[in-house]
Amino acid sequence: MFENIKSVVKAAGDIMLKAHNIQNGIESKEGRANFVTKYDVEVQNYLFQELHKLYPSATFIGEEEEQKGNVPGEYCFIIDPIDGTTNFIFDYKHSAISVGMLHDGQIVAGVVYNPYLNELFYAEKGKGSYLNDRPLHMKNLQLRDGIVGFGTCPYYREKADETFFIARKLYDRALDLRRSGSAALDICYVAANRFVLYYELLLSPWDYAAASLILTEAGGSISTLDKNELTFTAGCSVIAATPSAHEEYFQL
Ligand code: IPD
Ligand code: CA
Ligand code: CA
Repeated sequence: MFENIKSVVKAAGDIMLKAHNIQNGIESKEGRANFVTKYDVEVQNYLFQELHKLYPSATFIGEEEEQKGNVPGEYCFIIDPIDGTTNFIFDYKHSAISVGMLHDGQIVAGVVYNPYLNELFYAEKGKGSYLNDRPLHMKNLQLRDGIVGFGTCPYYREKADETFFIARKLYDRALDLRRSGSAALDICYVAANRFVLYYELLLSPWDYAAASLILTEAGGSISTLDKNELTFTAGCSVIAATPSAHEEYFQL
């Protein structure tokens, strides 16, 4: 069944690759720089329709439509149809589809797909994580050994001072900083040893649900910035890192 979920997500990636005239028909949502394109809606509708065929009793939480069915059911999909919409609008080619599956409130499967690079990150609970067909095993690097990624909470501008204060501290410890524009890919990049740490002060469950499992199944540590567990029914802050860099952060 998991193979089928991966196939559905890859097929949805074609909708992003074939997108044209993206700048036409953009709508603003709540908060500055918060947009939705017709493709966000199209990808989400496609995922809802195809995943419903595979799991008729599952419920859905999607960014572009709060929920379908009585959430949370035994099985519940948490979907970000396009994570990195601002990148998508400006043809930056760094965006992903994120599909997480909860079973009784616990994340048990996750798929994050970047169609531009044809990179499919996925994990099932207890079965490890993969990038395409390659198993992901994290090296336990320290901050000084790698790049730190972060998100700027563009829809919550009041978080900017704290975000950049932390960035300044981490910049002094790490090799360099990056701001990619897709939280789901940022977390997967930690799992793939491309980043040693990623943080953002406020995200929604669809940004991190799938990627959080990919990260932990690869051997990484993830929590809120208060060192609590992530929540999947409401948003929270996120720090995803190697176990060493995660500890280091809390000693800064
Ligand atoms: C956003 C991206 C961005 C992060 C924002 C998210 P969206 O998701 O993941 O990198 O900084 O906090 O909301 O709106 O493009 O799906
Ligand atoms: Ca998102
Ligand atoms: Ca989105």
